[in-house]
Amino acid sequence: MRILVTGGAGFIGSNFLQWVVPRHPEHHFINADKLTYAANLENLTGVAGLSNYEFIRIDIANKNAVGALFSTSKPDWVVHFAAESHVDRSILGPAEFIETNITGTFQLLEACRASWKNFEGKLFHHVSTDEVYGSLGATGFFTEQTAYDPSSPYSASKAASDHLARAYSRTYHLPVKITNCSNNYGPRQFPEKLIPLMILNALEGKQLPVYGQGSNVRDWLYVGDHVEAIWQVATRGRIGETYNIGGNCEKANLEVVRTICRSVDEILKAPSGNLERLITFVPDRPGHDLRYAIDCTKLMTELGWAPRETFETGLAKTIQWYLDNAAWVQKVRSGDYRQWIAKNYENR
Ligand code: NAD
Ligand code: TYD
Repeated sequence: MRILVTGGAGFIGSNFLQWVVPRHPEHHFINADKLTYAANLENLTGVAGLSNYEFIRIDIANKNAVGALFSTSKPDWVVHFAAESHVDRSILGPAEFIETNITGTFQLLEACRASWKNFEGKLFHHVSTDEVYGSLGATGFFTEQTAYDPSSPYSASKAASDHLARAYSRTYHLPVKITNCSNNYGPRQFPEKLIPLMILNALEGKQLPVYGQGSNVRDWLYVGDHVEAIWQVATRGRIGETYNIGGNCEKANLEVVRTICRSVDEILKAPSGNLERLITFVPDRPGHDLRYAIDCTKLMTELGWAPRETFETGLAKTIQWYLDNAAWVQKVRSGDYRQWIAKNYENR
């Protein structure tokens, strides 16, 4: 089978390819990525030399380029990760989120509809987020039936893309599956998201900016568990269905940051509590969702998936990865990243 993976040079897409390509030499994987600031071809060193893998640079929002990609690559499956993915960036400038997340998904769906003569053996797997459901109060969980209620331009654009994918399933019978997952962490995550930002700032003795009171709650899932869940749904899930994916691991942001401080203190053999003094409360994010929590009973009971990592084991692996990959960090932390952090984050 020929599997087109969009956004495979980003955080989750590259972890997916690192996991799946060596395990499935019977499939050919085409990684189609625009290589935005969030991408890094060094994320793919383990698979780049394998004969069942190729890379193509492409903007999924470009209709002609997507058409040409489908003509040459002839994919049987599309696993669609490509997106603008950071909430704070979407608040500062939503345009690229609309372009990539909505128009880009639309162009891919159209290309599937146009190029697949019949839908036997075909699949469009749409990778999405629990943020489409909006915010929970102190209790309750998101299920696959929860009504969409997105708060940020990012989550609104992902919600629109989910609606399009579901509409193509219902209207054209395109074989679509959707997964909505909670917050991921792990190797190769761009250090603008909470966990890698705090790990790298802590290692460098920089301030640890916590929004509001640090009481917002996220459900955390190790990226390796997410990619296994995606593969389970893609290979064994029911066509036309949505599956929630989560870690059953709710934590307030302040607790996450304090846990990172303790772990890094231990690694650096610093006195306990040394890094917590770097925690700085900064003005809250506008429209900040209070709490995310996922009910993924459907995935667990239908497909027997369960996360392998606990927050403690996953976080230890993550911190170790950033320590072991200083060259990756150095490259990512220079250039555009430095300018963006300086412009948008440094005066808060
Ligand atoms: P990321 O920002 O790390 O990577 C996104 C990738 O998409 C990059 O390689 C980028 O170059 C590529 N891309 C962006 N615009 C493109 C375009 N127009 N054409 C082609 N490629 C383009 O994102 P991520 O964290 O790996 O997230 C991947 C997917 O998973 C996204 O759809 C996101 O909404 C979803 N998701 C993420 C999380 C999370 O916690 N990170 C949780 C649930 C779902
Ligand atoms: P983030 O990693 O951006 O993911 P998302 O907004 O998609 O959930 O943020 C996770 C949580 O951490 C969120 O509640 C915002 C908060 N946060 C901070 O407190 N400080 C920061 O510097 C960042 C980036 C996030």
